[in-house]
Amino acid sequence: MGAEVVIEGLSKSFGKHTIWRDVTLTLPPGEVSVMLGPSGTGKSVFLKSMIGLLKPDRGKCVINGVDIVRCSERKLYETRKLFGVLFQDGALFGSMSLYDNVAFPLREHTKKSETEIRKIVLEKLDMTGLSGAEKKLPGEISGGMRKRAGLARALVLDPEIILVDEPDSGLDPVRTTYISQLFIDVNAQIDATFLIVTHNINLARTVPDNLGMLYRKELVMFGPREVLLTSEEPVVKQFLNGRMDGPIGMSEEKDSATLAAERAMFEAGHHAGGVEEVTGVPPQLQPTPGLPERQGARRRKDRVMRMLHTLPEAARESIIASLSPEEQRHYGVHSASLVGTQHGVLPTGDVATIPDSSRTQPIELGPNDATRGLPPYEQGNS
Ligand SMILES: Nc1ncnc2c1ncn2[C@@H]1O[C@H](COP(=O)(O)OP(=O)(O)O)[C@@H](O)[C@H]1O
Ligand SMILES: [Mg+2]
Repeated sequence: MGAEVVIEGLSKSFGKHTIWRDVTLTLPPGEVSVMLGPSGTGKSVFLKSMIGLLKPDRGKCVINGVDIVRCSERKLYETRKLFGVLFQDGALFGSMSLYDNVAFPLREHTKKSETEIRKIVLEKLDMTGLSGAEKKLPGEISGGMRKRAGLARALVLDPEIILVDEPDSGLDPVRTTYISQLFIDVNAQIDATFLIVTHNINLARTVPDNLGMLYRKELVMFGPREVLLTSEEPVVKQFLNGRMDGPIGMSEEKDSATLAAERAMFEAGHHAGGVEEVTGVPPQLQPTPGLPERQGARRRKDRVMRMLHTLPEAARESIIASLSPEEQRHYGVHSASLVGTQHGVLPTGDVATIPDSSRTQPIELGPNDATRGLPPYEQGNS
């Protein structure tokens, strides 16, 4: 299982220029998380801070008990080995074949023989759909292949955490979906913790278990995907719809006069661009048929159900609606019916019932129980 990453009160500035401050979030082990944010909000700086390439001014980033902000150089070196990083441009060595690029970390950081290295390299190239391309130079292949080669290289040291910077940059929407599918497939196979930073809305809506957004030097939100995808927060809504209509402006934020002038223009019928009212929670990308089930997704279901009572109603409803009837029975919840409500207030009987958080014992399942095979509640630590 991938490592958990606990980030607390992390702040980073360059001189007087604050990039972001007080970022607190936890990447749950083996789950896929996406961090959204307009260009220039410090997403790349965030990834570099997580692996200690940049030094945050305050806060913690704890992995397996080691705070990489404060630890010794030796510990940092050790902890960094847990990470696989896919940089924006793939960061391949232009004069080396894909084979040598992917073999590079093994030759640098391990004492493995060339025979062992060959086995690993070919396995990772196969995993990323690059079998047969090992002799190619980075300049001879497409942008999508370069990204996959970068991912293959990020995988050779068996990372527990995989960081990805803007996987869609330079790719068309179809190639972006293919690389997204690859992340889900790799996650299903190795159960590593993923953090992908991007401003791609499609990817954010369909790939992750958890979604966050950086804006105006702050982490606006971070949580289960359903929370952001059903959020009424203006910044989040505007971003997810890719519209001009909202607080995010041409370069950064808008002042109130600009906001009012634009509002009037849009109300008078000028198209605010973007996709018309993209709302709701689309189905999440699943591993390619034939691959194992995602353990991270399975654990997430239990985790999210334990925190369900803390989530906004729209997110709760969406989570409950995504469960099968068996799962709803297993967790003791049912979908709220909006039919027959008065004054917009749901009678208690129709509100999605929240599982009792004290009920942490696994449910005993009889041999003919329809819920057989479903993950039991994890015990303790709720
Ligand atoms: N090494 C650095 N020194 C000074 N400023 C930097 C450095 N790296 C990034 N920045 C600044 O940090 C801000 C955020 O950059 P970045 O993380 O690249 O944004 P994003 O990846 O979200 O587009 C930018 O204003 C950029 O100029
Ligand atoms: Mg960037």
